Amino acid sequence: MLRKQAPSLRRGFAAVSDNVQPNRVHGGLKDQDRIFQNIYDKYGRDLTSAQKRGDWYKTKEIILKGDKWIIDEMKKSGLRGRGGAGFPSGLKWSFMNPPGWEKNVGAKYLVVNADEGEPGTCKDREIIRKEPHKLVEGCLVAGRAMNATAAYIYIRGEFYNEAVQLQTAINEAYKAGLIGKNACGSGYDFDVYIHRGMGAYICGEETALIESIEGKAGKPRLKPPFPAGVGLFGRPTTVTNVETVAVAPTILRRGGDWFASFGRERNSGTKLFCVSGHVNEPCTFEEEMSIPLKELLEKHCGGVVGGWDNLLGVVPGGSSVPIMPKDTCENVLMDFDALRDVGSGLGTAAVIVMNKSTDVIRAIQRFSAFYKHESCGQCTPCREGTTYLQKMMDRFYTGQAKEREIDMIFELTKEIEGHTICALGDAAAWPVQGLIKSFRPVMVDRINEFQKNNNVSYGGWLEGGKVKDGKVVGSPIPADAFHGHH
Ligand SMILES: Cc1cc2nc3c(=O)[nH]c(=O)nc-3n(C[C@H](O)[C@H](O)[C@H](O)COP(=O)(O)O)c2cc1C
Ligand code: SF4
Repeated sequence: MLRKQAPSLRRGFAAVSDNVQPNRVHGGLKDQDRIFQNIYDKYGRDLTSAQKRGDWYKTKEIILKGDKWIIDEMKKSGLRGRGGAGFPSGLKWSFMNPPGWEKNVGAKYLVVNADEGEPGTCKDREIIRKEPHKLVEGCLVAGRAMNATAAYIYIRGEFYNEAVQLQTAINEAYKAGLIGKNACGSGYDFDVYIHRGMGAYICGEETALIESIEGKAGKPRLKPPFPAGVGLFGRPTTVTNVETVAVAPTILRRGGDWFASFGRERNSGTKLFCVSGHVNEPCTFEEEMSIPLKELLEKHCGGVVGGWDNLLGVVPGGSSVPIMPKDTCENVLMDFDALRDVGSGLGTAAVIVMNKSTDVIRAIQRFSAFYKHESCGQCTPCREGTTYLQKMMDRFYTGQAKEREIDMIFELTKEIEGHTICALGDAAAWPVQGLIKSFRPVMVDRINEFQKNNNVSYGGWLEGGKVKDGKVVGSPIPADAFHGHH
C-alpha cells in the first residue's frame, strides 16, 4: 500500500535503475537463503521445531550487543518497512532513542501491526500461522533496539486461530525464559501482549491502531506529534509491520551485509510476495527483491490463466496502488523504486493479477466501494470524496456516465490525494487514477455502448427515470452490480 510511493511524488530520471550492476538479474532465491523456512508448514511451529530451524539462536548475545549495534546492523541491511510505506527500518527504529532518551523514565512501546487489512495481502497471517517464533523473537530484538519495555501485537480480530497460535508461541517463550523478566538471561525485561482488533481496515493505520489499543474508536491522529514522541498511552512508541519485525533476528544473526546482498541498491533483501487473481497457482512465497514481475508469475504461480498474452493488468502492491497495464508488466522489476518509476508501488507486495476476462472498471469500482466503506469519516475530503468516487465509479461501470466525467473524477481524486489526515484518502484516489491512466478507452467505449443501447437523457438517466424516496427508480444498474454496498 501507499505512502511515499504516490505517482505524483515520482523520482526524477537519475535513479537507482541506472545503478552499478546493470546485468545482474534478480530472483531465483536459494532455499538456504529463505528466512521463512516453514512458510509451507512442513517442519512444525512449536518452540523446539523453531529452534531446530535456528530461531532463538544466540539471541542473548544479540541483546547484549545493545541498541546501537542492532540499529546499525538494521541500517546496513537496507531493510525498508514491509507494511507498505517502505520507510527505512533502522532509521525509523532509531527515532526511539533521541539524545537524552534515558531521562524520559517510564514505559516505551513496540507495537506490531498484524492488522493486515489491505485487500490482496496475505503474508503476515502466514508468518503468524507457521513461523510465530520468528515474530516473538523479532519483538524482543526490535524492542531491545528501541529500548522498549513491552510489545503489543495488534492482530486483526478475524484472525482468531492465528491469535491462539501466536499466544501459544508467546506462552512457550515465557516458559523457556526467552521473554519476560531477564529475557534470555540478558538482564533485559520485556513483555509481549496480544491485542485483538475488530476488523476495521482503518485500524491498520498506525495512529488509529494506537487509539484502538487504548480502547477508543480507530480514528487516525493528526501528526505531529509522531508516535515516537507521543504514542501508545502517551508514551514513545513505534508501530511496525509483522514481516519487518519477523525478519530482524535472521538479519542480525546472518549480518546486515548478507540481507543487503539481495535485490537492487536501496531495495534490498528478500520479501514475501502474495499473488492472487488470474494465475494458475495463487500463493505466498519468499523471493529476492527486484525479481522481474513476469518471472515471479511464471516461476511461482504457474503463469497467467490463459497464458501471458491473456494478461490485462496487474495491481502489484495491494488494492491501494495503481494498476499497471500489460505493456508495463513485461519488464518491470518488483521493488519499491522500479514500481514507483512506472507510476505504481510495491506497497505490501500483494500482487493482484487480472486477465482479459476481467471487467477492469468493475474491479476498480469495487475498490472504490471498499474505501468508501472503510473511511473513518473524520476528514471531509475523504468522507465526502470516497462517497463521490464510489457513486461516480458506479456510473462508469454501467456506462451511464458522460465522457467529461472522466476528467471530473480525476480532478476529484486530486482533491482527495494529500489533503487528508491519513493515507486512506490517497489509497482511495490512486486506483481510480490508475484506471484512467491505463484504461481510459475502455471507459469511453462503455459509455458509448450504453448510449447506443439506451434512450439516454441528461446525466445518463434513462428516459422516464424518476427519483422516489431519494432513490433513482428504473435505474439501469443491474442488481448484482454493487454487491453488499447498496
Ligand atoms: C488505511 C491504512 C491501513 C493500513 N493498514 C496496515 C496494515 O494492515 N498492516 C500494516 O503493517 N500497515 C498498515 N498500514 C501502514 C501503517 O500505518 C504503518 O505505516 C506500518 O505499519 C509501518 O510498518 P513498517 O515500518 O514495518 O512498514 C496502513 C496504513 C493506512 C493509511
Ligand atoms: S483520510 Fe479518511 S480514514 Fe483517514 S482520517 Fe481522514 S477520514 Fe479517516
